Amino acid sequence: MKILSTPGWDEYELLDTGDGKRFERFGKYRLVRPDPQIIWRPRLDRSEWQKADAEFDLEKKKWIIKTKIPDKWLIHYKNIGFYAKLSPFKHTGIFPEQTLQWEWISSVMMFDILAKQAQSKNNFLQDSQNKLRILNLFGYTGIASLVCAVGGAVVTHVDASRPTISWARENQTASNLQNKPIRWILDDAIKFVSREVKRGVKYDGIIMDPPIYGHGPEGEKWDFNESFPKLLSLCRLIMSQKPVFLLINAYAISSSAVMLKNVLEDYVSDLGGEIEFGELALEEKSAKRLLSTGIFARWSQK
Ligand SMILES: C[S@@+](CC[C@H](N)C(=O)[O-])C[C@H]1O[C@@H](n2cnc3c(N)ncnc32)[C@H](O)[C@@H]1O
Repeated sequence: MKILSTPGWDEYELLDTGDGKRFERFGKYRLVRPDPQIIWRPRLDRSEWQKADAEFDLEKKKWIIKTKIPDKWLIHYKNIGFYAKLSPFKHTGIFPEQTLQWEWISSVMMFDILAKQAQSKNNFLQDSQNKLRILNLFGYTGIASLVCAVGGAVVTHVDASRPTISWARENQTASNLQNKPIRWILDDAIKFVSREVKRGVKYDGIIMDPPIYGHGPEGEKWDFNESFPKLLSLCRLIMSQKPVFLLINAYAISSSAVMLKNVLEDYVSDLGGEIEFGELALEEKSAKRLLSTGIFARWSQK
């Protein structure tokens, strides 16, 4: 079991944590957000926390704005641009710990492309036939989809929320990736994959990041413990002859990463390759403590 952690990057930092809250910097704005697992004490002085531009008030379920912070502001991760927004439910449209997975996806894709290029004489990448086909389920604001598109893949992005799909398309434009082959699909994850099974469509890589509870555009119920094994069994049926990776992230569920690994093994152990599993964590700037933000399991042919 691994703990993958990141201190963030030049446009994101976890400044401090304590007393049920996170103090973070997204670009040039500092935010305070609730996080129930944080039952330890902060390290920075209160006067530092009071410099926040906005704080999400858990009781009032809304953001308390303290400075002239805009509705949305652009952040960059390498050559990808995306908007942070003070959205309802304390979210900002960015899960910063996902940089760990964006790097992994890019490395696994590059590894596969280089391996195939070595095997073939002609100009491998020109031939669209050789482009990896990636499916990003529960894709949210689409940063992982943009990472895959930059890596040369043909991407299918599925999410149940129309405003979130529009936000993802805004991020595509902000990244000047309008010409990249990305299909933005508003649909329920299980419904969409079931249809792909019937159509015989195949994918070389699959990313999923389901919530604990959710629902599709027509109210289709998503309950992690019930729906996840079913979704994975369907995803196995749409994996291509030579699949490259399958990545699962999960948040706010009481189970451990061992559960994800066990379910994943049920469906990919016949493919050889490697399974890694564990926790994702952010490293705070103040005292270098780790803040666990979710669990993952991932399979690759590598
Ligand atoms: C935790 S977010 C995903 C975070 C994202 N992968 C990221 O790293 O930015 C969960 C997403 O699942 C979507 N969702 C919830 N239920 C769904 C369903 N039944 N089918 C498809 N998407 C769903 C929500 O709209 C939300 O965008």
